[in-house]
Amino acid sequence: MAEKLSDKEIENFDIEQTGQYPVMPLRNTVLFPQQVIPIYIGRDRSLKLINELGTKKRYIVVVAQEDGSIEDPTSDDLYAYGTLAQVLKVFDMPDNSKSAIVQGISRVKILDYVKNEPYFIAAINTLSDEPITDQIEIDALTNNLRQTFEDLMKVAPNLTEEHSGMLKNIQKPNRLTDRAISVITISNKEKQEILEELNIKSRIEKALNLISREIQRIKLGEEIQSEVHDEITKTQREYYLREQMKAIKKELGEDESTVELKELEDKIKAAKMPKDSEKVAMKELDRLSRIPTQSPEYNVSRTYIEWLVDLPWSESTEDRIDLKEAKAILDEDHYGLDKVKERIIEYLAVRNLKQQKNPNETVRGPILCFGGPPGVGKTSLGKSIARAMGREFVRLSLGGVRDEAEIRGHRRTYIGALPGRVIQSIKKAGKNNPVFMLDEIDKLGSDFRGDPSSALLEVLDPEQNHSFSDHYLEVDFDLSNVMFISTANYQDAIPPALRDRMEILDFTGYIEDEKLQIAKRHILPKQIEENGLTNKQVTFDMPSIRELVRSYTREAGVRNLEREVANVLRKVARDLVESKTEKIKVTKKQVHKYLGAPRFHSELAERSTKPGVVTGLAWTAAGGDILFVESTKMTGKGKLTLTGQLGDVMKESATAALTYVRAHAVDLGIDSEFNSNSDIHVHVPAGAIPKDGPSAGVSMVTSLVSLLRNIPVKQKVAMTGEITLRGNVLPIGGVKEKVTAAHRAGIKEIILPDLNRKDLEDVPAHVAKDLTFHFAKEIGDVLNVAVPKV
Ligand SMILES: Nc1ncnc2c1ncn2[C@@H]1O[C@H](COP(=O)(O)OP(=O)(O)OP(=O)(O)O)[C@@H](O)[C@H]1O
Ligand SMILES: [Mg+2]
Repeated sequence: MAEKLSDKEIENFDIEQTGQYPVMPLRNTVLFPQQVIPIYIGRDRSLKLINELGTKKRYIVVVAQEDGSIEDPTSDDLYAYGTLAQVLKVFDMPDNSKSAIVQGISRVKILDYVKNEPYFIAAINTLSDEPITDQIEIDALTNNLRQTFEDLMKVAPNLTEEHSGMLKNIQKPNRLTDRAISVITISNKEKQEILEELNIKSRIEKALNLISREIQRIKLGEEIQSEVHDEITKTQREYYLREQMKAIKKELGEDESTVELKELEDKIKAAKMPKDSEKVAMKELDRLSRIPTQSPEYNVSRTYIEWLVDLPWSESTEDRIDLKEAKAILDEDHYGLDKVKERIIEYLAVRNLKQQKNPNETVRGPILCFGGPPGVGKTSLGKSIARAMGREFVRLSLGGVRDEAEIRGHRRTYIGALPGRVIQSIKKAGKNNPVFMLDEIDKLGSDFRGDPSSALLEVLDPEQNHSFSDHYLEVDFDLSNVMFISTANYQDAIPPALRDRMEILDFTGYIEDEKLQIAKRHILPKQIEENGLTNKQVTFDMPSIRELVRSYTREAGVRNLEREVANVLRKVARDLVESKTEKIKVTKKQVHKYLGAPRFHSELAERSTKPGVVTGLAWTAAGGDILFVESTKMTGKGKLTLTGQLGDVMKESATAALTYVRAHAVDLGIDSEFNSNSDIHVHVPAGAIPKDGPSAGVSMVTSLVSLLRNIPVKQKVAMTGEITLRGNVLPIGGVKEKVTAAHRAGIKEIILPDLNRKDLEDVPAHVAKDLTFHFAKEIGDVLNVAVPKV
């Protein structure tokens, strides 16, 4: 082993200025004078070099490769400057390679390679640093360098106290610089630059640059590092906190699903359900607590409990106590309809009394059915009743409902099952005593999916509806506080079992005077506002309204009237804008201008002037209506033709009528031969509409008698009634509707079967007062009024 040289010995090392030395290429290292480093020797040339070195004074030159990745460099791949070094020790490595400890002695310049094999041998020139010219400047720079290196020390993780201590002992600026550069992590190229720099000032300056840059690099790296680190720690922190929270909750018995379960339990208690339902809810809650939250079953079960707790088991509104106020609200929204309004006030009165006696008693809501033609205010009155009573209003349209499950819900075993519309509506109302309108109950359908009317039975039967069971809910809900109102146009189409359980209130339709009032008080103000107008801009005089009612609409209700009013108002609005006038007064003439020629005119006047034409009365879905029976005769052989889409009953009436007339021809003052020399044709106009019913019997006979006597029927007379072959007049139904319809059409006298006398009570007084009634026991009584013998 060679002696390591002291710094001083190196400074004074006596070497030839030029000489030939073996050269060892280094891949990744630049060796500085006085530096001692281990080198690894694995490559062929280098091994040969080491092996052939003698044992004494083993000097070599080490040179860095420009590109460290070259395995077998040529002399061109090596830098031109290197370091003369003493090999201090050589170790054998297990894999036949070696390592050596070398000590740098002096910078050298390679002049020429004299041999390349078996290893490089080069002629070199040793180099000394340039002499210092300005010592003060160098001292300052050196101080600076020390300081900067201290700064680097503080941030560089690979530098230790040992390094700084080592530097403190070095006094010579050139050595200090070499040493500082040798320990920092910079590229070989940069180190090589320092090695080649012989001017000490430049060398220190370059080193300063490199060290400062290194400080910055480390700081920047730290910053980026710390940012990344911050990010990680934040998410990690949250994660840990969450985990901790979970652990704490678990410890307290409150993990995520238990919190939800607790909430549901509170809700169940708050819902104040009846005992039975609460039991079911709690049982389901218990089941829920054992279902894993991820399971789809969990949601099904939770939804069910939510439905239960969301229902207004014990939420109700207070009914209005002040009857006067209630009446005022009803009157505010609707004109007339006194009977219905009275019924509501009565209900409120009864409720008041009962509650005074016993506040806990439930007063069953009535189950009403508003029956009547379209547009008479059935639906809209329902809403107004709710307002008057201070209750919530919900409406469920039954038109076209065919599936029982729509009313009563699907069993929970079905995917996506829900409660039926009744329970849904109750939930929507949020109270257990709303006014609940079952609209269009006569349009209920039924098919293979079950009969919805049987489900409705449970809703509407006062004996059953305190425990209505929905398939989905499975527990009973008390509907007895609900005020049910159903509506129907055609009462006969209501399933009988349902009809039987409801209190039917008839909306017969309005007479002209009522329509005028409704138009004036309700329709006009409403439509004026809806069309963006004010009372100041448009007024209607009474004749104009009457004209609208009489010549542009023919209906029991007021829906078309409302439509025509809106029609006029739209045109008024346009006129106002276009003509820039301030105000338009609508008169009868204006109505004609806006709506065109009158759409309806009195058929009565035209028709009933000819023999054989009779005004009958019919009962239709839209209330009552007048209908004409016409007969005519021509030469023939006694054939009877019937047209006008008559049903079987009506056809039979016609045949019976003809038989009666033939049998009683003489008594009736008719040529008894008429049947052998003429054919008779009976027609009931409006041929597209099927008609049936027994009540046209008297009209048929009268029509034939009028024809055969050749005397027109008395004007403005209408009749209805069934006949027997013996000429007795039998009673019929729908007197009220028929009479109001006749009144609407401008009839003045009405012939009714004697047995229908009692039904006149139902006819509104203001209608009855305009009419003369005749009661017929047999057909003769009819004929005496309608076609008196001359
Ligand atoms: N007596 C009345 N007073 C004020 N407005 C009325 C009156 N009757 C009906 N109306 C108005 O007529 C319009 C039609 O009424 P609604 O829709 O309630 O008729 P409906 O009887 O339910 O008919 P349908 O059988 O066709 O459902 C509503 O705008 C309503 O306000
Ligand atoms: Mg309606």
